[in-house]
Amino acid sequence: MSCITNDVNSVVERLSMGDIAAIPTETVYGLAADAFSDSAIKKVFSTKNRPIDHPLIMHIAPQWDLTQWVSHIPDYAYALMESFWPGPLTLILPIKPGAVNPLITGGQTSIAIRAPNHALAQELLLKFKKPLVAPSANPFGKISPTTAYHVQHGFPKNDFLILDGGRCTVGVESTIVSALEPLTYAIVRPGIIDEDRIAATTSFKKQSGGKNVRVPGGLSSHYQPEKKLYYVDDIGDASHWFDKVKLSPYVLTFSQNYQGPYASLYQFPDRSEDAAYELYYRLRIADQSAADFILIELPPKGQAWFVIRERILKAGSPMSLMEENYCVI
Ligand code: TXA
Ligand code: MG
Repeated sequence: MSCITNDVNSVVERLSMGDIAAIPTETVYGLAADAFSDSAIKKVFSTKNRPIDHPLIMHIAPQWDLTQWVSHIPDYAYALMESFWPGPLTLILPIKPGAVNPLITGGQTSIAIRAPNHALAQELLLKFKKPLVAPSANPFGKISPTTAYHVQHGFPKNDFLILDGGRCTVGVESTIVSALEPLTYAIVRPGIIDEDRIAATTSFKKQSGGKNVRVPGGLSSHYQPEKKLYYVDDIGDASHWFDKVKLSPYVLTFSQNYQGPYASLYQFPDRSEDAAYELYYRLRIADQSAADFILIELPPKGQAWFVIRERILKAGSPMSLMEENYCVI
C-alpha cells in the first residue's frame, strides 16, 4: 500500500530515482513524475490506466522562466499569469521545438503548464529543480482526490509515496485556457477561475465558435463515483417521484426543496467557491455510504457555478434515465 508522508525530501529522492509520487496542490492531488524521464512518465500513464494520447500538465515553480519550454507567450497570457499564478489556472502554449518530452503532450505541438499555489508543492518543485508532470491522482475516469487518504484509497495495490499537504483548498481541477492564438484565447476546461474573471483580466477576446484545441480529457463521461449518480435540475421535482417508488437515495442538494425519502442528505454551501470545495469530497462520502445510489441537484445557473455543473454532467446521468426503468402507477 502507498505510504502517506510529510517528508518532502524523501519524495524528492524517490522522484529523482524515477519513481512516481502523489503530491498536493491547491486544486486536487496530482500523480507526479520527472518531466524529463520517459520511464517515470510512462509509469504515470500505466498507474492511472490513462490512454497515452491524453496529454499531461507540466507543473513548475512560479519563479521559473517559461520561455525554456515555450516558443511564444501572447500578451493576454502574461496578463493571466500576472493575475492568477501561482494558482488554479493552466495555460496551453506552443512548445519550443525539442524542449519538451513528447510523451507529455501526446505528440502535440502545445504544452499545458501551471504553477500550483501550494506551499509544499512549491517547496518540492524548488528542491527537485525540474518540472513535474502531474495528472490528477485518481484511476482514469474516477473522482479526483482532494486528500492524501483519497489517493491511497484509489490505488490500494501501489506503493508510491503520497506527500500529505492537507485537504485541497480549491477542490476541483484548474481552469485550462488555450493561449495558442496571438489575439484570442479559448477556455478548454472550466474551473474556479471562471469566464467572467478571465475576461475581466484581459482586454483580449475569447475565441468565437468552436475550439481550435483538441482536448483529449474532454470526454463526455469523467469524474465518476462507483455508485450510480443521477442529476436533476430541481430536486423538488424528484421528491414526489422518490416518495412513490419508495427509494431512498443519498441526496446532495443546493436548495432546501427535497421532501422525499433519503438515506442521507447534504446541502452544499451557498457560495459557489465553498460548494466547489465540497463537491468531490461529498461525492466520495456519498459513494462510500450504504445508499444504493446518489441523487444530486444541479447548481444554480451562472458563470460562477459553471465548473460545478460541468463536473456533475460528466460524472452522472439525468434522473429521467432512472425514471424510465420504473413504472409508476
Ligand atoms: O488542477 C489540475 O489541473 C490538476 C492538478 C494535479 O494540477 N491536474 C489535472 O490534470 O487535472 P489531468 O491530467 O487530470 O487533466 C489535464 C487535462 C486533460 O483534460 C488533458 O487532456 C488536458 O489537460 N491537456 C493537457 N495538455 C494538453 C494540451 N497540450 N492540449 C490540450 N489539452 C491538454
Ligand atoms: Mg484528471
